[in-house]
Amino acid sequence: MKMLIGRMLAFTLVAGSAFAAHAQTTDVKIAYALARDSHYGVAADAWEKSVGEATNGKFKFTHFPSSAQGGEREVIEGLQLGTGVQAAVVSSGTLANFVPETGVTDIPFLFRDLAHARAVLDGPIGQGILEKFPDSGLIAVSWGEQGFRHITNNRLPIEKPQDMAGLKIRTMENPVHITAFQTLGAAPTPMSWTEVISGLEGGTIDGQENPLSVIVSAKLWEVQKYLTLSGHVYSPAMLIVSPSFWNELSDDEKTAFKNGAAEALKAMRVYVDDAEVNGAKKAEESGMQVNTLSAEQKAEFQKSIQSAYENSYYKTYGKELIEQIQNTK
Ligand code: PAF
Repeated sequence: MKMLIGRMLAFTLVAGSAFAAHAQTTDVKIAYALARDSHYGVAADAWEKSVGEATNGKFKFTHFPSSAQGGEREVIEGLQLGTGVQAAVVSSGTLANFVPETGVTDIPFLFRDLAHARAVLDGPIGQGILEKFPDSGLIAVSWGEQGFRHITNNRLPIEKPQDMAGLKIRTMENPVHITAFQTLGAAPTPMSWTEVISGLEGGTIDGQENPLSVIVSAKLWEVQKYLTLSGHVYSPAMLIVSPSFWNELSDDEKTAFKNGAAEALKAMRVYVDDAEVNGAKKAEESGMQVNTLSAEQKAEFQKSIQSAYENSYYKTYGKELIEQIQNTK
C-alpha cells in the first residue's frame, strides 16, 4: 500500500511539473572564442547547468571553445542563418557590426567603473539594446561581461598618448575602437581574434588590447612583453541564440534559457571581479612588465580622445544618450 501511494505521489509530481524526465535530449551547440576555463566557458557552463536543472535535463550543451567554430563574426552569421551553432557567447565589440546600437557601450572612457557599467546594462538603456536584436535576425538572451580593456605590446610601456604613435595595435573589427586608436595616433589594425596570437608572434602587429580576463585566460605573456593598465574601454559580452532555435522553444523553455543566462552573467561577473583584482599580479609573475596609468595620465588619454567624441561618437549615438549613460549612478 505504502509503495502504491509513493508511486502515485511520484506520478502526480512528474505530471504536474512543466518538464517531465526526458528520454531524448536536445543538443545545444554553443561556441565561444576563448578557452573552456575562461569567463566565456564559465558562463556557458553556468547556463547549461541552470537550463538542465530547470528542464529536467532536456537540453544538453556541446561546447565549441577557443574559436573551434571560427571567428566571432562567422559564428554570429551562422546564428542569423540558423546554419551553425544554436548559441554563442561573444563580445559586444563584434556585435556592433550586426546591431549598431550596441556600439555605444564600446566608447572609450564612458564608464567610471564596473558598478557603473553594470548599472547601465542592467537598467533601461542596456535592456533596450537587447530588444533591438530580433530586427537583425538574432536573439540576445542576456548581457555578459569581459571587464575593462588594457593595452599589451612588445615595444614599450605606454605612459602617455604620444607613446601610441605608430603603434601597430590590433583592434576588434569595431568602428568605435578603430576611431579611438586613430585619434590617439596609433596604427590600428582590425582583425579577428583568431589571427591575433600568430600576428603577435610573427610581429605583424606590436600589440593588442583586451581585458585581464582575456589576457590571463589566453596567457598573453607568452607573446607580449608590456601590459599597461589603461582601462580605456569597458567590454561587455553577450549570450545570444539563433532565432530558428529560439522560436521552437516553449514559453517555459524560453524562461529556463533566460534564467540560465542570468546565472551565466552572475558567474562571468564573479570571474571578472577576480581577474580585475588578481590578473595583473598573475601577468607580472608570468613575466610581463606591468604599469598602471595614474589618474593624471588617464586624464591625458581622455583629453586626447575628446575629438573622437565630437567628430564621431556624438554624431553616431547622440550626445543625449552618451550623457545619459555618463550620468547613470
Ligand atoms: O578582442 C576580441 O576580439 C574579444 O575581446 C575576444 C577576445 C574574442 C573575446 O570576445
